[in-house]
Amino acid sequence: MTSQALAWLVQLARSILRVLLAVAFLVELAHAGPALELAIGTGRLALPLAERGVEVHGIDASEAMVARLRSKSGGERIPVTIGDFADVPIEGRYALVYVVFNTLFALQTHDQVWLGAARHHPVEQRVESQHVLLSEQGIRFYPVQIRYAYPSELDLMARLAGLQLRARFGGWRREPFTAASAMHVSVYERADPTKPL
Ligand SMILES: C[S@@+](CC[C@H](N)C(=O)[O-])C[C@H]1O[C@@H](n2cnc3c(N)ncnc32)[C@H](O)[C@@H]1O
Repeated sequence: MTSQALAWLVQLARSILRVLLAVAFLVELAHAGPALELAIGTGRLALPLAERGVEVHGIDASEAMVARLRSKSGGERIPVTIGDFADVPIEGRYALVYVVFNTLFALQTHDQVWLGAARHHPVEQRVESQHVLLSEQGIRFYPVQIRYAYPSELDLMARLAGLQLRARFGGWRREPFTAASAMHVSVYERADPTKPL
Protein backbone atom coordinates (compact mmCIF):
# COMPACT_ATOMS: atom_id res chain seq x y z
CA MET A 1 0.00 0.00 0.00
CA THR A 2 1.37 3.43 -0.90
CA SER A 3 1.76 6.08 1.80
CA GLN A 4 -0.89 8.14 -0.04
CA ALA A 5 -3.37 5.26 0.16
CA LEU A 6 -2.51 4.74 3.83
CA ALA A 7 -3.06 8.44 4.58
CA TRP A 8 -6.42 8.28 2.77
CA LEU A 9 -7.42 5.23 4.84
CA VAL A 10 -6.46 6.98 8.10
CA GLN A 11 -8.48 10.04 7.04
CA LEU A 12 -11.45 7.83 6.17
CA ALA A 13 -11.24 5.99 9.52
CA ARG A 14 -11.08 9.33 11.34
CA SER A 15 -14.12 10.68 9.52
CA ILE A 16 -16.10 7.48 10.24
CA LEU A 17 -15.16 7.71 13.92
CA ARG A 18 -16.17 11.40 13.95
CA VAL A 19 -19.59 10.49 12.50
CA LEU A 20 -20.10 7.71 15.08
CA LEU A 21 -19.20 10.05 17.94
CA ALA A 22 -21.36 12.86 16.57
CA VAL A 23 -24.35 10.55 16.10
CA ALA A 24 -24.02 9.18 19.64
CA PHE A 25 -23.88 12.75 20.98
CA LEU A 26 -26.89 13.90 18.92
CA VAL A 27 -29.02 10.83 19.73
CA GLU A 28 -28.64 11.62 23.41
CA LEU A 29 -29.63 15.26 22.90
CA ALA A 30 -32.55 14.51 20.58
CA HIS A 31 -34.24 12.06 22.98
CA ALA A 32 -37.38 11.07 21.08
CA GLY A 33 -36.94 13.89 18.56
CA PRO A 34 -37.84 15.15 16.11
CA ALA A 35 -34.52 16.70 15.08
CA LEU A 36 -33.82 19.23 12.34
CA GLU A 37 -30.48 19.32 10.53
CA LEU A 38 -29.57 22.64 8.92
CA ALA A 39 -27.65 21.92 5.69
CA ILE A 40 -28.41 18.22 5.75
CA GLY A 41 -26.44 17.55 2.55
CA THR A 42 -26.35 13.90 1.57
CA GLY A 43 -27.38 12.73 5.03
CA ARG A 44 -23.94 11.79 6.37
CA LEU A 45 -25.26 12.30 9.93
CA ALA A 46 -29.01 12.38 9.35
CA LEU A 47 -29.20 8.83 7.99
CA PRO A 48 -27.38 7.11 10.88
CA LEU A 49 -29.36 9.28 13.28
CA ALA A 50 -32.62 8.14 11.66
CA GLU A 51 -31.38 4.54 11.87
CA ARG A 52 -30.99 5.06 15.61
CA GLY A 53 -34.72 5.84 15.78
CA VAL A 54 -34.67 9.65 15.73
CA GLU A 55 -37.14 11.33 13.36
CA VAL A 56 -34.90 13.66 11.34
CA HIS A 57 -35.94 16.50 9.05
CA GLY A 58 -33.57 18.66 7.05
CA ILE A 59 -33.02 21.88 5.15
CA ASP A 60 -30.55 22.23 2.31
CA ALA A 61 -29.94 24.74 -0.46
CA SER A 62 -28.74 22.18 -2.98
CA GLU A 63 -31.17 20.01 -4.96
CA ALA A 64 -28.20 17.92 -6.12
CA MET A 65 -27.07 17.13 -2.55
CA VAL A 66 -30.62 16.20 -1.58
CA ALA A 67 -30.92 13.97 -4.67
CA ARG A 68 -27.90 12.06 -3.37
CA LEU A 69 -29.53 11.77 0.03
CA ARG A 70 -32.68 10.43 -1.66
CA SER A 71 -30.67 7.80 -3.53
CA LYS A 72 -29.38 6.31 -0.28
CA SER A 73 -31.22 3.66 1.69
CA GLY A 74 -33.68 5.40 4.03
CA GLY A 75 -33.00 8.78 2.40
CA GLU A 76 -36.40 8.95 0.75
CA ARG A 77 -38.09 8.94 4.18
CA ILE A 78 -36.35 12.10 5.45
CA PRO A 79 -38.42 15.26 4.82
CA VAL A 80 -36.17 17.98 3.39
CA THR A 81 -37.07 21.59 2.67
CA ILE A 82 -35.03 23.19 -0.10
CA GLY A 83 -33.76 26.67 0.65
CA ASP A 84 -31.37 28.76 2.67
CA PHE A 85 -31.56 27.69 6.30
CA ALA A 86 -31.22 31.30 7.35
CA ASP A 87 -34.53 32.11 5.62
CA VAL A 88 -36.64 29.00 5.17
CA PRO A 89 -39.75 29.02 7.34
CA ILE A 90 -40.20 25.67 9.08
CA GLU A 91 -43.37 24.65 10.87
CA GLY A 92 -43.30 22.65 14.06
CA ARG A 93 -41.13 22.24 17.11
CA TYR A 94 -37.94 20.26 17.34
CA ALA A 95 -36.27 18.65 20.33
CA LEU A 96 -32.95 19.34 18.62
CA VAL A 97 -31.83 21.66 15.82
CA TYR A 98 -28.23 21.08 14.77
CA VAL A 99 -25.69 22.16 12.20
CA VAL A 100 -22.34 20.47 11.64
CA PHE A 101 -19.41 21.07 9.38
CA ASN A 102 -17.55 18.34 7.55
CA THR A 103 -14.53 17.86 5.36
CA LEU A 104 -16.33 16.54 2.32
CA PHE A 105 -14.37 18.72 -0.07
CA ALA A 106 -11.06 17.34 1.12
CA LEU A 107 -12.03 13.73 0.54
CA GLN A 108 -10.76 11.71 -2.35
CA THR A 109 -12.54 8.67 -3.73
CA HIS A 110 -11.39 6.03 -6.17
CA ASP A 111 -12.95 7.61 -9.25
CA GLN A 112 -12.71 11.29 -8.46
CA VAL A 113 -10.22 13.72 -6.96
CA TRP A 114 -10.90 17.01 -5.20
CA LEU A 115 -8.22 19.69 -5.34
CA GLY A 116 -8.51 22.80 -3.26
CA ALA A 117 -6.84 26.08 -2.51
CA ALA A 118 -7.93 28.65 0.03
CA ARG A 119 -7.16 32.21 1.06
CA HIS A 120 -7.71 33.24 4.69
CA HIS A 121 -8.65 36.83 5.58
CA PRO A 122 -8.23 36.78 9.39
CA VAL A 123 -9.39 40.35 10.02
CA GLU A 124 -12.66 39.83 8.15
CA GLN A 125 -12.94 36.23 9.40
CA ARG A 126 -13.43 35.00 5.86
CA VAL A 127 -12.09 32.04 3.91
CA GLU A 128 -12.36 32.04 0.14
CA SER A 129 -11.63 28.74 -1.49
CA GLN A 130 -11.76 27.17 -4.89
CA HIS A 131 -12.39 23.43 -5.22
CA VAL A 132 -11.84 21.52 -8.43
CA LEU A 133 -13.42 18.12 -9.01
CA LEU A 134 -11.58 15.91 -11.50
CA SER A 135 -13.64 12.92 -12.58
CA GLU A 136 -14.52 10.89 -15.65
CA GLN A 137 -17.31 13.38 -16.29
CA GLY A 138 -14.77 16.18 -16.67
CA ILE A 139 -13.59 19.13 -14.58
CA ARG A 140 -15.93 21.16 -12.39
CA PHE A 141 -15.21 24.21 -10.25
CA TYR A 142 -16.85 24.87 -6.88
CA PRO A 143 -15.98 28.26 -5.40
CA VAL A 144 -16.81 28.50 -1.69
CA GLN A 145 -16.96 31.59 0.55
CA ILE A 146 -17.20 31.14 4.29
CA ARG A 147 -17.48 33.79 6.95
CA TYR A 148 -16.66 32.09 10.25
CA ALA A 149 -17.50 33.21 13.79
CA TYR A 150 -15.73 32.67 17.08
CA PRO A 151 -17.64 30.96 19.92
CA SER A 152 -18.16 34.24 21.79
CA GLU A 153 -19.70 35.76 18.66
CA LEU A 154 -21.96 32.73 18.24
CA ASP A 155 -23.10 33.11 21.85
CA LEU A 156 -24.01 36.73 21.17
CA MET A 157 -25.96 35.80 18.03
CA ALA A 158 -27.72 33.06 19.99
CA ARG A 159 -28.64 35.52 22.72
CA LEU A 160 -30.12 37.89 20.14
CA ALA A 161 -32.17 34.96 18.84
CA GLY A 162 -33.56 34.14 22.30
CA LEU A 163 -31.19 31.26 23.05
CA GLN A 164 -28.59 30.67 25.74
CA LEU A 165 -25.54 28.46 25.89
CA ARG A 166 -26.29 25.23 27.74
CA ALA A 167 -22.89 23.56 27.27
CA ARG A 168 -19.74 23.79 25.20
CA PHE A 169 -17.36 20.90 24.66
CA GLY A 170 -14.05 20.52 22.88
CA GLY A 171 -15.29 17.45 20.95
CA TRP A 172 -18.06 14.92 20.50
CA ARG A 173 -16.80 12.95 23.55
CA ARG A 174 -17.66 15.97 25.73
CA GLU A 175 -13.98 16.84 26.21
CA PRO A 176 -13.46 20.16 28.05
CA PHE A 177 -13.36 23.18 25.74
CA THR A 178 -10.02 24.95 26.19
CA ALA A 179 -7.82 27.40 24.28
CA ALA A 180 -6.14 24.36 22.73
CA SER A 181 -9.37 22.84 21.39
CA ALA A 182 -9.36 22.36 17.63
CA MET A 183 -13.17 22.29 17.44
CA HIS A 184 -16.19 23.06 19.55
CA VAL A 185 -19.54 21.42 20.08
CA SER A 186 -21.95 24.03 21.42
CA VAL A 187 -25.42 23.26 22.74
CA TYR A 188 -27.94 26.12 22.96
CA GLU A 189 -31.37 26.11 24.53
CA ARG A 190 -34.29 28.56 24.64
CA ALA A 191 -33.54 31.26 27.21
CA ASP A 192 -37.23 31.37 28.09
CA PRO A 193 -39.12 28.21 27.06
CA THR A 194 -42.47 29.96 27.55
CA LYS A 195 -41.70 32.55 24.82
CA PRO A 196 -41.82 31.71 21.09
CA LEU A 197 -38.53 32.25 19.24
C1 LIG B 1 -20.22 20.08 3.45
S1 LIG B 1 -21.94 19.74 3.25
C2 LIG B 1 -22.39 19.17 4.84
C3 LIG B 1 -23.61 18.29 4.80
C4 LIG B 1 -23.97 17.63 6.12
N1 LIG B 1 -24.35 18.57 7.15
C5 LIG B 1 -22.83 16.79 6.62
O1 LIG B 1 -22.26 17.05 7.68
O2 LIG B 1 -22.48 15.85 5.93
C6 LIG B 1 -22.56 21.38 3.24
C7 LIG B 1 -24.04 21.44 2.87
O3 LIG B 1 -24.53 22.69 3.28
C8 LIG B 1 -25.47 23.14 2.33
N2 LIG B 1 -25.58 24.57 2.56
C9 LIG B 1 -24.58 25.49 2.61
N3 LIG B 1 -25.07 26.70 2.93
C10 LIG B 1 -26.42 26.54 3.08
C11 LIG B 1 -27.48 27.42 3.44
N4 LIG B 1 -27.26 28.71 3.69
N5 LIG B 1 -28.73 26.92 3.51
C12 LIG B 1 -28.98 25.63 3.26
N6 LIG B 1 -28.00 24.74 2.94
C13 LIG B 1 -26.74 25.19 2.85
C14 LIG B 1 -24.87 22.71 1.01
O4 LIG B 1 -25.84 22.65 -0.02
C15 LIG B 1 -24.33 21.33 1.38
O5 LIG B 1 -25.28 20.33 1.17
